[in-house]
Formats: sequence, C-alpha cells, structure tokens
Amino acid sequence: MTMTPMKRSLASVAIAMTFAASAQAASPVEKPDKVGVCAACHGAEGVSTQPIFPNLAGQQENYIEHALHAYKSGERKNAIMAAQAANLSDADIKQLAKWFSQQTPVLYTPELPEGKN
Ligand code: HEC
Repeated sequence: MTMTPMKRSLASVAIAMTFAASAQAASPVEKPDKVGVCAACHGAEGVSTQPIFPNLAGQQENYIEHALHAYKSGERKNAIMAAQAANLSDADIKQLAKWFSQQTPVLYTPELPEGKN
C-alpha cells in the first residue's frame, strides 16, 4: 500500500501518541508528603511494621480510598484511624490511595501469639 506523505505523517503521530500514553500509565507515583504520618504503623511502602497494622501495599486503590473516607465520616469505627483520617483532605486521600496501591505487596501470615491458634 502506498501512503501519501500526509497520511504517513498522521500515522506516525498516532503511533507517537500511543507510546506517550503507555509511558504515562507506567510512570511511578510521586510519594505524597503525608505518607510520613502513616509510615510509623503501615510502613512508607505499605508493608506494616507490626502484625496488628494492616499492610496497604498493593491493596486496591479504590478500597483504600473508600476505607479512609469511612474512617473520616465515622462509618467505619476505629479510634486510631479516625484520628488519622480526620486530617486528610479528599486530595490527600486520593494521593495516599494511589501511592499505597502501587507498592509491591507482600504476602505472609504473621505468627499468632502462644496459645492463640
Ligand atoms: C498509630 C498507627 C497508625 C497510623 C499512624 C496510621 N494507621 Fe492506618 N490503620 C491502623 C490500624 C490499627 C488499622 C486497623 C483498623 C481497623 O481495624 O479498622 C488501620 C487501618 C487502615 C486502613 C484500612 C486497611 C484495611 O485493610 O482495611 C487504611 C486504608 C489505612 N489504615 C490507611 C492509613 C493511612 C493512609 C495513614 C496515614 C495518613 C494511616 N493509616 C496511619 C493504624 C495506623
């Protein structure tokens, strides 16, 4: 098939746009400043520091967002997380959910204390 120069340049623009879009999707998320607050319990990369704190790494973005709104509104009750979520704006919640969802998950079962199996 022969292409006119105009058609050829349009085709290369379309290809360039396709590459630009996929490069954007793969770009890593910038670490939000507020991760520092969460890090003490959940770890900065979402791998928690102790078994009593849930891992957030690799959790669904939408789940994290929903959970944080639920703690903030009181729909989900937990004294520790209610205090944490109270200071988060909607934009903070979106950024934190994106950050933690894109970290590499770890799978492990923490050992239960003596006599709790
Ligand atoms: C002092 C410790 C502590 C800090 C700091 C903390 N969390 Fe938590 N987080 C917890 C605990 C404990 C739970 C489990 C609460 C429950 O049972 O609902 C939890 C649960 C969560 C959950 C729900 C996880 C799930 O699997 O359902 C999310 C999401 C979350 N925290 C996000 C955050 C974010 C984002 C921050 C920082 C702004 C933060 N947390 C700061 C202790 C903490």
